[in-house]
Amino acid sequence: MTACERILVTGAAGQLGGYLLRRLDESGYAATGLGRGEAPGVDRVADIRDRTQVADALDQTQPGAIIHGAAYTDVDGCERDPKLADAINRVGSENVATLAAERGIRVIGVGTDFVFSGSGGAPYTEDAAPDPISVYGASKLAGEQAILSADSRFAVARTAWVYGGRDKHFPRTVLTMLARHGRMEVVDDEIGSPTFAGDLAEALVALLPHRPSGILHLTNEGAASRFELARRVAVEAGQDADRIVPVSTEAFLAKYPLPARRPANSTLANTRAAAMGIRLPPWAVAVARYAPALATEFSEI
Ligand SMILES: NC(=O)c1ccc[n+]([C@@H]2O[C@H](COP(=O)([O-])OP(=O)(O)OC[C@H]3O[C@@H](n4cnc5c(N)ncnc54)[C@H](OP(=O)(O)O)[C@@H]3O)[C@@H](O)[C@H]2O)c1
Repeated sequence: MTACERILVTGAAGQLGGYLLRRLDESGYAATGLGRGEAPGVDRVADIRDRTQVADALDQTQPGAIIHGAAYTDVDGCERDPKLADAINRVGSENVATLAAERGIRVIGVGTDFVFSGSGGAPYTEDAAPDPISVYGASKLAGEQAILSADSRFAVARTAWVYGGRDKHFPRTVLTMLARHGRMEVVDDEIGSPTFAGDLAEALVALLPHRPSGILHLTNEGAASRFELARRVAVEAGQDADRIVPVSTEAFLAKYPLPARRPANSTLANTRAAAMGIRLPPWAVAVARYAPALATEFSEI
């Protein structure tokens, strides 16, 4: 894969998509964004559930590779509507991967830590056996398998707890709650690998020349509980971190029930990418870089 090659990004209007398009552009690739509807960053409109629409998009853009980020990412929405989760996360991925394989286009899919139950085994390496406990996790696992079985040269890069961009994400929720309510209860027994979408985009673009195949993990380094992450966001945004109050998942769910179960500890070990020299910064460094800019949204209210 050479710079100036065309890379198609699915999920272009999503959280990761915007950073990916920018990073590809900065690295000398010709990036094309595919999205479900007209939106910033979307050059081609196609629903990945529809094989004809995906085939037309591939034939008209003729990319050398696809970074496939499109997914139904609403974890509770997936639990409520498993058919939709399957249609987008499994069938949509199968459409992208098999149509790409027929055309000799390489694919890097974006996977999730939610393929793991989180009830033992963290930090999970790339060869750990998946055991999802949610519809989202199971549908994303089926999507991974569809990608990897379409062509042995295809890859899936699993990531976790992604934040960045204009839409809803956990650090923005923390600052919104502090601005509106002055405090926030956050679970301290759910542990994972918080990942800034900009760092993830940079790592995915750095992966392209390595022509990866199989499963890789790409997250900011280290592990944090939701509570630790929320406190770090507050501190870096210039807020009093003591207004973040720890609570157990059990107590939280008793107050605010959610349909989907979350892994207790789904921390990922990034062993394969590190062996290629690709490492993301520690999660706290990433938050320190991102939160001050996020905080300006709230100082202007
Ligand atoms: N967010 C996280 O914490 C997290 C953690 C681990 C892994 N991941 C994975 O990382 C990837 C990127 O996530 P993200 O946070 O950027 O998600 P996101 O903001 O929800 O973006 C996903 C994009 O996929 C698009 N999409 C959904 N259904 C589609 C369809 N049928 N056809 C075409 N496009 C469709 C969405 O379009 P609409 O806006 O029209 O719905 C959206 O723009 C996903 O594969 C996700 O599973 C995310």
